[in-house]
Amino acid sequence: MQGKFITLEGGEGGGKSTNLKYIEQLLLKEGFSVVMTREPGGTKLAENIRQLLLDKAQEEISQQAELLMMFAARAQHIKHVIQPALAQGSWVLCDRFTDSSYAYQGGGRGMDHSAIAWLENFAQSQLRPDLTLLLDVPVEIGMGRAKARGQLDRFESEKMEFFNKVRCCFLELAEKQPKRIKVVDGTQELAQVQAQISQLMQDFIHG
Ligand code: TYD
Repeated sequence: MQGKFITLEGGEGGGKSTNLKYIEQLLLKEGFSVVMTREPGGTKLAENIRQLLLDKAQEEISQQAELLMMFAARAQHIKHVIQPALAQGSWVLCDRFTDSSYAYQGGGRGMDHSAIAWLENFAQSQLRPDLTLLLDVPVEIGMGRAKARGQLDRFESEKMEFFNKVRCCFLELAEKQPKRIKVVDGTQELAQVQAQISQLMQDFIHG
């Protein structure tokens, strides 16, 4: 039986890494085989593209090049990691996916959503996440946490206005696709965030 494809999304400093590990544990406890991965990245080539995308110290990357690099990494990731894992019956848990392209390149950079939708169909065919958890925190809180972690990468160095647009776009996506995208309030205490995640996962698995 084909596994399920679950993605975790959100702005900077929303607590994705901690909660990814938590979701992985939940799935393992339910007896599923889990492949945890991330975007951009997840294969050798895609991780190399990630480095190019996050590195600040190189020539300016055009918006078009940025979007295409995201999807080049994604196409490779889907073919070599995501699809084989799902076909074997594993559940794939991915740190970011195409919703991030809509939010960052579409919302943040202002690129045309129809171009992203075209690339989505081209690179993914029918593949879409079965469930997406959106860890939502106000930009000031998220960026405060990201800054406290240290060195900011090329995206994290953007202005507040950029991140406000990213957040708005994520929330709009969730409003338009409420069955797939579930919003988790990331400002709560970690225990409460995880209780909410646990409930959403139970509903998804057993509901
Ligand atoms: P990530 O490692 O999740 O960053 P963080 O854990 O600091 O939030 O993602 C790297 C960056 O790539 C992040 O700033 C968002 C950006 N990104 C896009 O702009 N578009 C995309 O399609 C993806 C997958 C990520």
